[in-house]
Amino acid sequence: MHRTRNKKQPNRPGRIALLCSCALVFTMTTINAESRSAASDTEQRVADLLGRMTLAEKIGQMNQVHAEVDGPVAALGEALRAGRIGSIINQVDVATVNELQRIAVEESRLGIPLLVGRDVIHGFKTVLPIPLGQAATWNPDLVREGARVAAMEAAKSGINWTFAPMIDITRDPRWGRIAESPGEDPYLASRLAVAMVEGFQGDDLGDPGAIAACAKHFAGYGEAESGRDYATTNIPENELRNVHLRPFSAAVDAGVVTLMASFSDLNGVPATGNEFLMRQVLRDEWGFDGFVVSDWNSIHQLAVHGLTADDRDSALAAATAGVDMDMAGNVYLGQLGELVESGSLDLEIVDAAVANILRAKFRMGLFDDPYTDPEALPPFGSREALATAKASALQSVVMLKNDESTLPLSRARLDSIAVIGPLADTPYEQLGTWVFDGDPDLSVTGLQGIRDFVGDDVEIRYVRAMKTSRSRSTEPFDEAVAAAQKSDVAVLFLGEESILSGEAHSRADIDLPGAQVELVRRVKEAGKPVVAVIMAGRPLTLTNVVENVDAILYAWHPGTMGGPAIADLLFGVESPSGKLPVTFPRMVGQVPIYYSQKNTGKPPSPEKIVHIDDIEARAPQTSLGMTAFHLDAGYTPLFPFGFGLSYAEFSYDNIRVSSAEVPLGGTLSISAELENRGDVAADEVVQLYVRDLVGNVTRPVKELKGFRRLRVRPGETVTVSFDLSTDDLAFFGRDNTPIVEPGEFHAWIGGSSDTELKTAFRLVAGD
Ligand code: NOJ
Repeated sequence: MHRTRNKKQPNRPGRIALLCSCALVFTMTTINAESRSAASDTEQRVADLLGRMTLAEKIGQMNQVHAEVDGPVAALGEALRAGRIGSIINQVDVATVNELQRIAVEESRLGIPLLVGRDVIHGFKTVLPIPLGQAATWNPDLVREGARVAAMEAAKSGINWTFAPMIDITRDPRWGRIAESPGEDPYLASRLAVAMVEGFQGDDLGDPGAIAACAKHFAGYGEAESGRDYATTNIPENELRNVHLRPFSAAVDAGVVTLMASFSDLNGVPATGNEFLMRQVLRDEWGFDGFVVSDWNSIHQLAVHGLTADDRDSALAAATAGVDMDMAGNVYLGQLGELVESGSLDLEIVDAAVANILRAKFRMGLFDDPYTDPEALPPFGSREALATAKASALQSVVMLKNDESTLPLSRARLDSIAVIGPLADTPYEQLGTWVFDGDPDLSVTGLQGIRDFVGDDVEIRYVRAMKTSRSRSTEPFDEAVAAAQKSDVAVLFLGEESILSGEAHSRADIDLPGAQVELVRRVKEAGKPVVAVIMAGRPLTLTNVVENVDAILYAWHPGTMGGPAIADLLFGVESPSGKLPVTFPRMVGQVPIYYSQKNTGKPPSPEKIVHIDDIEARAPQTSLGMTAFHLDAGYTPLFPFGFGLSYAEFSYDNIRVSSAEVPLGGTLSISAELENRGDVAADEVVQLYVRDLVGNVTRPVKELKGFRRLRVRPGETVTVSFDLSTDDLAFFGRDNTPIVEPGEFHAWIGGSSDTELKTAFRLVAGD
């Protein structure tokens, strides 16, 4: 067995060999020299400032305070002047922020500017689809642009630091925070993590409109037991490295300024006190030189977890483990002084933490100009921002079903439409979770989007039918059924209100809430085509709905411009092109179910499973297949990862590898032909999957290794080709170091993870 051992992670981009012209080499050399000298200049300034700070001022930098208080200037002024605050969270009044900055800069002894943090998760005033929806675009360029829009609007309010991107891999739709995540796959999540970091931080952190990003929650939070937020996580190191840490490593490589420690307990050591994560992996292996912030009061919570006895112990554990800043906990402020003075905590640890924070402030240009001129940035809800929000919503919607080409609807051939459901006209609910600043007045709802599109040509009969998505009363359903009966088609806006997902909002039952399933059943009885538009913060179990509708557009929480985007899709101005970033289970008991599972020693197959209804009385114990499936759910999901239908008819063929063998260190290309046999032009997201057949640790049955979104015209055939280097095949082996192994690989290309278009190649050790 050949192994490569190198310090770098497999998903680090730095090893791509470039053939470049002399001019480019010269330019790069100059840039490298410039950035080296800028870095050493920054280090000099950090060291100089640190050398002049008292212990109290150092601890002040490590302290972030909640600034959404009454009269923040009076409430915080004294502490600011005394240098006891390094950062504030949750103040979005720009005049107040500027005044707090002024006090910090002009009235404190050392004049150190403030970091001004806020959860700008998927937009600020203009709200983009929830991150899980953005992940469904499989479009890193658009995700980058979305983060840019969010950053510019947030910066206009004086914010210079967002607590995003959230890049927790999760395979549990019960978990409310799946809404904020990029889904289940580490490769997709890594690509989107980089895009978001680039979007928030811009080309230069010092530019107006650029804000520092924060990759969170480090790490493993998405594995919360039973999807219950904040619950324990147990993740073997190998799984942690091969899955959960990968997007963080990519974000660090992309230059993310900060990371946030997770609330959760990881393998018995809560992340906020976890030295393995923050010292060994983050600093020693990845060389991260930004800073780590705790989650809200999570240092204090170390004692609640039972890792420490009290705040003193907690401060010691968190600082030692590598948490540089205390978010809204006041624990560092109260404890670090005594800990250092008594010799329990090394001053060097405090110095290193403060240096990390100051380095970020220098890089962000805050010492040069800490103030915000709101006029210098575009207005909230600008045309450009709304256009990006609409593009993102358009590409995020996944069409899950379209029997008999129910969609697209034709304005010319319809006389009337029944628009029904609790989420058809709810400007706030379509924004989704984490929208502290989102402006519902900017929202265009589905109902409005349809009205704007059809104008006076088509009659709209709107029946809300349920007060909220959770209502249980079926009384108003008669009116909904009557509206459907009188109309040519019924469009149902179903799903979850925004409050049903997000932090601390987990669900054990992930069916459509309230009486919605009954509403669907009743409307179906009207005998007209039924289209369901589902807005939700998670994959819902739709088994009891799919049969009663003709078409499904899964719109997540689509944000401000959800309505016009949905109208364009309903009427075929654009074809749906989103693909699932997460597997949809048939029933909740299948969770966790994800495409990249391991094969097991007893893999199921269609002929080896029996359904519970077909079991004969007193069937012998061994007669049911003896493989890894559920008697009542089988082993396949309702909709697989990567899945999404189109108005075009895509067909894949002719998969090829450039050579049957690739030497270690080499690259091969894998291609397939994609034909649009339909009659509309549409985007398709072409996906490349690989399986490493034999591994030093068992490998998933399929792993995403590449994807590309491209537009294909009717009748057109394009050859899509992916370059795959043997580094791309690296994984963490039995001793948890990166390894590339020679051997047999399978590769698939297609429009979903269940593609069967397959080829094979061999990785050979070479000389
Ligand atoms: C707690 C959440 O876990 C975290 O994601 C968020 O950034 C902070 N609160 C600040 O609001």
